[in-house]
Amino acid sequence: MRFPERFPCALLAAAAVAMACVLAQRAPPWTEDCRKSTYPPSGPTYRGPVPWYTINLDLPPYKRWHEVITDMSPGLRNIVQNVKNMINAFSPSGKVMKMVDERLPSLLGNLPWPFEEEMKGIADVSGVPLGEVLSFNIFYELFTICTSIIAEDKKGHLFHVRNMDFGVFLGWNMNNNSWTVTENLKPITVNLDFQKNNQTVFKATSFAGYVGTLTGMKPGTFSLTLNERFNANGGFLGIIEWMLGRREATWIGFLMRNVLENATSYEDAKNLLIKTTILAPAYFILGGNKSGEGCVITRDRKATLDVYELKPKEGRWFLVETNYDRWKSPFFMDDRRKPATLCLNQTTQENISLASSYDVLSTKPVLNKLTVYTALIDIPSDVYESYLRDCPDPCIGW
Ligand SMILES: *[C@@H]1O[C@H](CO)[C@@H](O)[C@H](O)[C@H]1NC(C)=O
Ligand SMILES: *[C@@H]1O[C@H](CO)[C@@H](O)[C@H](O)[C@H]1NC(C)=O
Ligand SMILES: *[C@@H]1O[C@H](CO)[C@@H](O)[C@H](O)[C@H]1NC(C)=O
Ligand SMILES: *[C@@H]1O[C@H](CO)[C@@H](O)[C@H](O)[C@H]1NC(C)=O
Ligand SMILES: *[C@@H]1O[C@H](CO)[C@@H](O)[C@H](O)[C@H]1NC(C)=O
Ligand SMILES: *[C@@H]1O[C@H](CO)[C@@H](O)[C@H](O)[C@H]1NC(C)=O
Repeated sequence: MRFPERFPCALLAAAAVAMACVLAQRAPPWTEDCRKSTYPPSGPTYRGPVPWYTINLDLPPYKRWHEVITDMSPGLRNIVQNVKNMINAFSPSGKVMKMVDERLPSLLGNLPWPFEEEMKGIADVSGVPLGEVLSFNIFYELFTICTSIIAEDKKGHLFHVRNMDFGVFLGWNMNNNSWTVTENLKPITVNLDFQKNNQTVFKATSFAGYVGTLTGMKPGTFSLTLNERFNANGGFLGIIEWMLGRREATWIGFLMRNVLENATSYEDAKNLLIKTTILAPAYFILGGNKSGEGCVITRDRKATLDVYELKPKEGRWFLVETNYDRWKSPFFMDDRRKPATLCLNQTTQENISLASSYDVLSTKPVLNKLTVYTALIDIPSDVYESYLRDCPDPCIGW
């Protein structure tokens, strides 16, 4: 039982980091000049490659994840156990976990096809109870902190890249200054090639055990990433409504996967992302295959608040989205937008490429202690790559 003792440390550590940040605001050691020549990835900010798996959509949903989960179940059980320990530290009687195991599956009722069947298959192969697999899947709907960028070069060639940051406040490890959940996610990060008739339908980067999609590309057609949007009228309400039986909203990770699987064009994808009622507020970052096809869609659960598009002819050759509405200032202690924008400005449109985009995502604090992976997507050249990341000290916690 090491983690329950450690968890209160997370809050203390977060408070300490916050204070240090305020005190050292002028030149905190965790910001740095825009990085150069970091690609191909190497050195201390590169943890290693992400393994590829094929998900055969012609198989019954129950069977699709067997190979991935067989390989990844020790890692999946490890992260589930660590999160359980954190929860039990707050609820020592074990009541919360008992509720998750016994009541959650019936509270959530039937999840849409094919996701529920897929999760049942994952639960059976991994030995993790269905309620815990379900909560693991909900968890990603609510806590993804990220940076997504779409940029186009002078020739109209598009690049879509993102850092996936996950695990804030979920256990701080004082021994080596890392977030427990962030670290636990790295060994279960997978690249997925979803196929029908032995042909790729879309590619994605995900965490083993999660059946939705947060980062993906449909070859030749579009690229899509999700960033969390925190809002008072947010995802918790959506989930409560769902449990109360109002089930017209779509889970965002499921919508992303549905769009990647079934939308046939950039416009079709955009339309679905704008119009579908969703369970939690979100930013959808969508890129296409040709000049000007790139937008950030700011969503409330029911309405679309804003669609911000690339306008290369007017000089808007890139879009940056973190976790804040573009018309508002980011939270002062979490400004990844400005450093990313500054580095893109310095790169210039002449020199934007997959490699120079990786430089931007390797610059602290765009790269931070929560960064699990960096994904690089180049639709016109049909390139999809992802890399596990580390952020050695000095490095900000988020
Ligand atoms: C920190 O230590 C934990 C537990 O020993 C380990 O899982 C993790 O990979 C380490 N992280 C880093 C960045 O060294
Ligand atoms: C896919 O390829 C495998 C082996 O190459 C073959 O056995 C199988 O019949 C193919 N499936 C389809 C649906 O074409
Ligand atoms: C995407 O763009 C590339 C390069 O311009 C082109 O070769 C390819 O045909 C396009 N793909 C589709 C599906 O339009
Ligand atoms: C995509 O569409 C097919 C056919 O309508 C449907 O069976 C499948 O479930 C859809 N995919 C997702 C992920 O919703
Ligand atoms: C980046 O360049 C744009 C356009 O010149 C400018 O409006 C913006 O302030 C710059 N941002 C940063 C952070 O340098
Ligand atoms: C763009 O790249 C070229 C070739 O590497 C280099 O000479 C030039 O200085 C770069 N421009 C900027 C603005 O960094």
